Amino acid sequence: MRDETFYVIQKKDEIYGVVNIPIYLSSTFRQYEPSKPIKYEYARTQNPTREIMEEVIAKIENGNYGFLFSSGMSAIDTLLSILKPHEHILVDIDIYGGTYRIIEKLYKKFNIQVDYVDFTNIEEVKKSIKENTRMLILETISNPLLRTPNILEISKIKKHTLLVVDNTFATPYYFKPLNYGADIVIHSITKYLSGHSDIVMGAIILNDKSLAEEIKFYQNSKGGVPSPFDLFLLSRGLKTLHIRMEKHTENAKKIFEFLKKHENVEDIRYPGYSGMISFRVKKDIFEFTRKLKVITLGESLGGVESLLNVPYYMTHASMPEEERIRRGITKNLVRLSVGIENVEDLIEDLNQALS
Ligand SMILES: Cc1ncc(COP(=O)(O)O)c(C=O)c1O
Repeated sequence: MRDETFYVIQKKDEIYGVVNIPIYLSSTFRQYEPSKPIKYEYARTQNPTREIMEEVIAKIENGNYGFLFSSGMSAIDTLLSILKPHEHILVDIDIYGGTYRIIEKLYKKFNIQVDYVDFTNIEEVKKSIKENTRMLILETISNPLLRTPNILEISKIKKHTLLVVDNTFATPYYFKPLNYGADIVIHSITKYLSGHSDIVMGAIILNDKSLAEEIKFYQNSKGGVPSPFDLFLLSRGLKTLHIRMEKHTENAKKIFEFLKKHENVEDIRYPGYSGMISFRVKKDIFEFTRKLKVITLGESLGGVESLLNVPYYMTHASMPEEERIRRGITKNLVRLSVGIENVEDLIEDLNQALS
């Protein structure tokens, strides 16, 4: 089935034939007798609304098992929970600040060993894998510098490790990491998959049955699960993913062409698909952001509205200053999430703010 058709596929409702998913607001479920439930027991463990969407999210990434969480960070935390003390993880140098923070502030405390490497340098990755390396963690399009490590090449040299790919920026519409040798895909669903800046949610998708059982155990034990209301919004958002992604890309390509010629812009990056552009502004960053009228200054990305983020002060502020600078996250670096507005309005807005 083609992706465009896929997004409207959900488990068919056999009772009323409704075309939208039901929101089951029930934290608990009646049992025939002790330990003999009809199907579900307690909504943290599983509930009918989440079950439908976990199946959808797995299929969208071409995976066997999908798990949904109350945020992308909850998904990442749950995944990292499978690590044992003294195991080692290899993480890309350019990664979301919250991922860096949870590893540095929480998992190092549990004696997890961490090294950061440049995943666009295969030789460096190869050299850095140790016997106790359990996971390689990277993003399809890295945050905020928008590098694109070669997942297939990395999968060929990953040896005994689990290749974990955060596919938030690329989305399965453009790239499905499991098809290119990744073992586990994670998502901040908050972004493109839901697409309307109205929910916070995360996902883990994978193929391995025993790993899936482990994730399921931690999902239930930790309990960071999404609400049925939010799952409905995900279902609604996903139905237009293909249309939104085409428009994000169309607009981003035009904005990239405009910005790359602008005298107050340097070091512009755009991977050629999806809606994320990063660049450095050659004027006062506070004046530039203050002047924006159509584009919203705010954290997050992937919504229908354009959002502009200054990673140094915003999404990556939790990184120590010397780490930010070492990684190229300078004070004038801007990350733009191009929305689906009329592109001329966006270009005009950038032009007046940059001048
Ligand atoms: C690439 C990436 N992964 C994970 C996360 C965390 O997701 P959430 O904000 O949904 O917890 C983010 C958030 O910005 C992100 O950009």
